[in-house]
Amino acid sequence: MVGRKAVLVTGAGTGIGKAIALHLAAQGFTVFAAGRTLSTLGALAQEGGERIISVTMDVTDEASVAKGMETIASHLDGASLFAVVNNAGISVTGPIERVPDADWRAQFETNVFGVMNVTRAVLPQMRATGEGRIVNISSVTGRLAPPFMGVYAASKHAVEGLSDALRREVKQFGIKVSVIRPGFVNTGFGDQEQAGLEPYMKEGEPYRDSLEKFAKWHHDKGHKAAPPPHCVAVEVERALTDASPRTRYTAPKKNLWLIFARNFLPAPLVDAVTARTTGIS
Ligand SMILES: NC(=O)c1ccc[n+]([C@@H]2O[C@H](COP(=O)([O-])OP(=O)(O)OC[C@H]3O[C@@H](n4cnc5c(N)ncnc54)[C@H](OP(=O)(O)O)[C@@H]3O)[C@@H](O)[C@H]2O)c1
Repeated sequence: MVGRKAVLVTGAGTGIGKAIALHLAAQGFTVFAAGRTLSTLGALAQEGGERIISVTMDVTDEASVAKGMETIASHLDGASLFAVVNNAGISVTGPIERVPDADWRAQFETNVFGVMNVTRAVLPQMRATGEGRIVNISSVTGRLAPPFMGVYAASKHAVEGLSDALRREVKQFGIKVSVIRPGFVNTGFGDQEQAGLEPYMKEGEPYRDSLEKFAKWHHDKGHKAAPPPHCVAVEVERALTDASPRTRYTAPKKNLWLIFARNFLPAPLVDAVTARTTGIS
C-alpha cells in the first residue's frame, strides 16, 4: 500500500505534469496522476511503472474531483495524501479587449477554480494529519503580464494571490504552500497559445499588426526554443522535500531576471523592454 509520500498531480498526462509525475515517481513518491484523457494517462502509467496510479479527474468539475478523491482514498487505505501539485492549466491568448467573456470564464474555471476545487478536496485530510504540501503551478506571467497573454496572466496572478493567503491560513495546521513559476518550457502549450491568437490576426482586427509581430516572437523564441519540462519537475521536488520550502521557485532559472525586473525596475522601463523584446514597439 502507498505510504505517506503520496502525491496527487493534476494535468499529469502531458507536458510539465507528466515530467513532474515521472520525476517524483523516480524519487520514490507514489504519484496519483490525474487528468481527463485516459490515453495519455495510460501511456504515462506504462512509462512510470507501479509508482504511478492513474486517476480520472476534471478539475473544473467538483463531482469529478470528488470521484477522483474516492479512487485515491481506495488506494491509500486510510493513509493521507502528503501533497498535491495543482498543475492542470490552459492558456487563453488574445487582446484583453477582444477575448469574449466565455473564454475569460473558461480560463478562470480551469486555472483558478480548478486549483480551488482540488485544494478544498485535499485540505480536510491534511488538516487531520497535521501536515501536507500544496504546490501550485503558476507562471512567470503570474508576476509579469505580457501583452496578448493578459487573460492567462490574470488567472496566474489570481493563483499567486490565493496561494499567499492560503499559505498564511494553513500554516497553523502544519501545511506548507509553494508556488512554482515556470517561464517558457517546451510543451504543447505553445501550439495552444498560437492557435488562440489566430482569430485576432484576421483582416480588420484592431490589434492585427502588433499581434502578428508578437505571434512571430512567441513562435520563434517561445516554447519551441525553451528547455524540456524536467527543470520544473526538479523545483517541484524541492518544494516537496525542502524542510522549509520557499514560497516561490522559478524554472528555468534564467527567468529569474524577469521577476527581478518586475520587482525592482520602474514599470515604464519594463513596458519598453517588453514591447521591444516581443517586437510590438
Ligand atoms: N509550458 C509552459 O511554457 C508553461 C509556462 C508557465 C506555466 N505553465 C503551466 O504549467 C502547467 C502545465 O502546462 P503544460 O505546459 O504542461 O501544458 P499541457 O501539456 O497542455 O498540460 C496541461 C495539462 O492540463 C490538463 N488539463 C487541462 N484542463 C484540465 C481540466 N479541466 N482538468 C484536468 N486536467 C486538465 C491537460 O490534459 P487533458 O486536456 O488531457 O485533461 C494537460 O495534460 C499549466 O498550469 C501551465 O499554465 C506552462
